[in-house]
Parts: sequence; C-alpha cells; structure tokens
Amino acid sequence: MQSLQEQIKAYEQDINSFTPADAKELEDYRIKYLGTKGIVKQIFGEMKNVPVEQKKEAGQVLNAFKQLAEAKYEEFKHLQNGALEKGPAVDITMPGTQLPLGTRHPLRMVENQIVSIFEKIGFSVATGPEIEDDWHNFTSLNMPEHHPARDMQDTFYVSQNPDWVLRTHTSSVQARIMEQGKLPVRVLCPGRVYRNETISARAHCFFHQCEGLYIDKGVSFADLKQALYYFVTEMFGPDTKVRFRPSYFPFTEPSAEMDISCTVCGGSGCNLCKHTGWVEILGCGMVHPNMLRNFGIDPEVYTGYAFGMGIERITQIKYQVNDLRLYSQNDVRFLKQFQSI
Ligand code: DAH
Repeated sequence: MQSLQEQIKAYEQDINSFTPADAKELEDYRIKYLGTKGIVKQIFGEMKNVPVEQKKEAGQVLNAFKQLAEAKYEEFKHLQNGALEKGPAVDITMPGTQLPLGTRHPLRMVENQIVSIFEKIGFSVATGPEIEDDWHNFTSLNMPEHHPARDMQDTFYVSQNPDWVLRTHTSSVQARIMEQGKLPVRVLCPGRVYRNETISARAHCFFHQCEGLYIDKGVSFADLKQALYYFVTEMFGPDTKVRFRPSYFPFTEPSAEMDISCTVCGGSGCNLCKHTGWVEILGCGMVHPNMLRNFGIDPEVYTGYAFGMGIERITQIKYQVNDLRLYSQNDVRFLKQFQSI
C-alpha cells in the first residue's frame, strides 16, 4: 500500500506536468481533482486515519496539495469558453509595450572615450580610494604640511581621522601606483575627486578627473607633448591646435598647462574661450625627482611624465555644457541628449 505522502507526491507530479490542450481537458482535470468526488476531497477524507500526533503536519501537506491543484486550474480557467481551442490568448505578433531605456551618463561616456584613446598607445587603467590619507594625496606629491600649494585645493577632511581626506585630485592614484614599485608604468587613473567649493555653474564640491602617468628610462617632455597632441586630435578632431604654457605644480618639474584652440569658434573668439581663442584643458609636466625619490625610484635612471584633466571640463568643451550642476541633477531631458554619442 502506498503511503498517503507517496500518493500525494505522485498526484503533484501529475498536476505539475499537466497543460490542457483544450477546454474539455481542463474540465476533466477539474472534475478529477477538484470535483465533489475528486482526488482532493478523497485525500482530505484520509485525514481521519492519520494518528493524532501527525495530524498537524499532515494538515499542512494536504493544504499545500489542495492549493497546488487549485492554482493549476486558476492558471487556465480564463482560457475557457473555447479560447483554448483558438490558441494562446496573448497575440504574440502585437508590438510590445515600449520600456524607457536608461542612457549612460555623459561624464562616463567621455571618460570611456578618454580611456580608449590612451589605451591605443599602451595605457592601462588604475583606480584608487576616494578617502585618501595625507601621504598619498599631499605629502608624497611633494606637498609637505604647510606647503602653500595645499591652499590651491580646498580640502574636505574626514572627522574620524585627521589624517584622512576626500581626495582632492586623482594624482593620489599616481602615488599609489609608484608605491607598487613596478616599472615601467603607463597608467590612466580616472575617478571622482572632492573639493570644498560653493556649488555654482562653474564649481562643484565633487567632480571627475583623469590622471595619466608614464615612467620609464628616457621619457622626455617631447613624449609628453606627443601623447597629449595625439589625445587632442583624437578627442577634438585633427584641426585642433595645442599650446603649452609654463605653470607650477609641486609634483612636476617643469610643469605646464595645455590649451587647445577653441572648439566652438575655432579661435576667432567666443564666450567659451572668453574671446581669447584658447581653452585650457589640463595640467601636466615631468614627474618631480622628489616624488620619484619618495617612492624609491632613482631619478638618475628613470624619468616620467604626468598629466591631469577634468572630465567635466572636457565634456563642457566637447558638448558645450555650460553649467556644472547639470551633471548631478539627474534631469532625464539633459541626460538623454547624449544618447547617441
Ligand atoms: N592634480 C592637478 C589638479 O588637480 C592636476 C595635475 C596637474 C595633474 C599636473 C598632474 C599634473 O598629473 O602633472 O589640479
């Protein structure tokens, strides 16, 4: 004799594999399982033979079985009245409902463009933490405590630990890469950075940068210029001109800022270039020997170049976005405009 549980198991299998081909089969199913003399009733009738101490458990099993049998019937009930014979009730040839698709954020798209341009000349991508310590964000970059260059960047400090800051630039990732001591290095470090600025169209308390670092034997300023010139022609087109202006950064010597000819007016003067014909896009230079020494790299043997650019700035120039706040407001009308780039 099959035990009650085994019987139920067999019925469950039968129910699970059942799909009615027409309304008659569904009605037969109903009579077989759910009818007044059906299997569900019959099985419930067996409860009287179950010993008292097992009644609770058996009750749960029976209820679950009943629900399964009813659910199968409910699943197909609406297909009665001949609908089953006519095939599925859903017309699969109808066009589906359009679901709104999200788009990539413009800053991420531009970051991807920057990365893929530099990947072609051998750069790989490195990332680092956004909560940084003083050593990686400042001191190792030739900016000791009380160095006036620290004032160039208004810093958010982390209250739990006076040594921690929200990184003010992606140059901190350069430091972490040099620390690993694997030479030569050729990396690109994109990421979010933070500065204590009042939010306006031209400044934000967080923005994005992309750092580049190349250290090897015999790297020269000419290599830096050529790499950046290549980047600019890929990013802004072959007619774009570049110029380097001497500048100061504690972690590079010599240092420069690079401008490109204005992409809006082509150099004749407009609001973007403040009627100068040029727009600044990045800072760069040869890695300072002190910085190399900080990481045990011999500046007599190795030289390197570094550069850092703002991703918002590149996006602003390329797509004429004039208000930095747009990037973080999540206005779909703004974000959608970049769908096809
Ligand atoms: N860290 C600089 C800043 O945030 C940008 C920069 C300038 C990065 C020159 C560099 C560099 O790597 O060489 O303003």
